[in-house]
Amino acid sequence: MDRILIVDDDRSIRELLSMHLEERGFGVMSAATGAEGFRLAAEASPAAIVLDMRLPDASGIDLIPELKKRAAEAPVLMITAHHDMASTILAMKAGAFDYIHKPIDIQAFDVALDRALEVRRLSKGTDYLSVEGGGAFKMDDIVGSSPPMQQLFKDVGRVAASRATVLIQGESGTGKELIARVIHSYSAPQKPFIGIDCSAIVDTLLESELFGHEKGAFTGAVQTKPGKFELAEEGSIFLDEIGELSQNLQAKLLRVLQEREVERVGGVRRIPIRARILAATNRDLAEEMRTGRFREDLYQRLKVVTLRLPPLRERAKDIPLLVEHLLVKINQRLHKNLRRVPREVIEKLQRRPWPGNVRELENVLTRAAVLSQGDMLLQEHLVDQGGIPRSEARPLPSAVDGRVATLDEVERDHIVRVWTLAKGHKGKTCQMLGISRPTLERKLKKYGIAGEAD
Ligand SMILES: Nc1ncnc2c1ncn2[C@@H]1O[C@H](COP(=O)(O)OP(=O)(O)OP(=O)(O)O)[C@@H](O)[C@H]1O
Ligand SMILES: [Mg+2]
Repeated sequence: MDRILIVDDDRSIRELLSMHLEERGFGVMSAATGAEGFRLAAEASPAAIVLDMRLPDASGIDLIPELKKRAAEAPVLMITAHHDMASTILAMKAGAFDYIHKPIDIQAFDVALDRALEVRRLSKGTDYLSVEGGGAFKMDDIVGSSPPMQQLFKDVGRVAASRATVLIQGESGTGKELIARVIHSYSAPQKPFIGIDCSAIVDTLLESELFGHEKGAFTGAVQTKPGKFELAEEGSIFLDEIGELSQNLQAKLLRVLQEREVERVGGVRRIPIRARILAATNRDLAEEMRTGRFREDLYQRLKVVTLRLPPLRERAKDIPLLVEHLLVKINQRLHKNLRRVPREVIEKLQRRPWPGNVRELENVLTRAAVLSQGDMLLQEHLVDQGGIPRSEARPLPSAVDGRVATLDEVERDHIVRVWTLAKGHKGKTCQMLGISRPTLERKLKKYGIAGEAD
């Protein structure tokens, strides 16, 4: 049975909390002064300490470090007054785990206490992944210990030594750009790496971006401008989202690949290209080719070497390493200090489907870093990314007869539910729904929901 120590000079608070905690099955000790608190903290080894901000013989804040020391680093929950923002911040800085405002809302108190005990349980265990900053990884390193990634690294080593065109395929967020950069840095690190997103620019502009233009080639071409192929020199040109290329540009690119020469828009001179070509796509180009969306001859030219990045769900084994690597990156970026991830949290991450792959993992961890306070990553910090991936998986609300419900039906249903929850209290219903009284009245009437005055 966990024991909780309450240090508060207010007898009614001591009694209220003791009763509540005993009901919940905790052992409770209470002290009315700091001195008494010190004694109990050392003798009774509490699992958590509830500490008032103002005590007759000391300020609660000053007691935090010593109390924690005596109680083997038990978490401290501060009880603070609403207006006492400055001391609340000081308390957190002094090492309090959390704070609860007076008057005490018992539900909020339970939530804070349970979290404190959970963190303590996890910290006491040794079963966590520890994140070592610095040294271990370079910033743009690519990590992976799973067999498909190990194989991929070998392939990267092999192609880096050559100048062959490489096609990188993989779902979105799997690390295609990262791989392209790695290939480049192993083959021509001193030369430029020029990336271009084929899906982000309109066709006509893309042509002049890729191949350059002569002065006066079109309205607005006030100066001669070299294209990306020229700018890449003996480095690499990275054609991202190549599956989005129009038929027109596919034909032009094919010619470039065949002749290793480009012609600026409006120009006549043929300029030799020496850059190595790296292309990436999250589409299945073989399939695009069969349906006629992508030229077969271009596909054949591009896929001299094909690297396939496996989706994250097929390499759960990589997750611990990725979490470690990404947290080092995130800690630096956000000035955070997340150093420990309990094994059970890692296992939960390994069971997720990750439709957005490594990028989604990175986003989830970034969110967690923002939400977390200590050095431990907790389950509760791992909120879903929101947006596309999950909502796709959620079933659509359906009407009684099985078809998809209309917006009106969903609204009516929601209002009825909230109204029932509020036991027919209109004021509360408005509050929960975030609408005004007249709006609620109007909707009740519209949907024929019987309303009685409250
Ligand atoms: N194996 C890996 N090791 C370390 N970081 C990785 C790995 N794979 C991906 N990342 C990181 O995940 C993020 C997404 O990677 P990247 O942008 O290369 O994906 P992508 O396949 O190009 O995605 P998209 O198709 O959405 O453009 C980047 O921040 C990248 O650094
Ligand atoms: Mg990309």
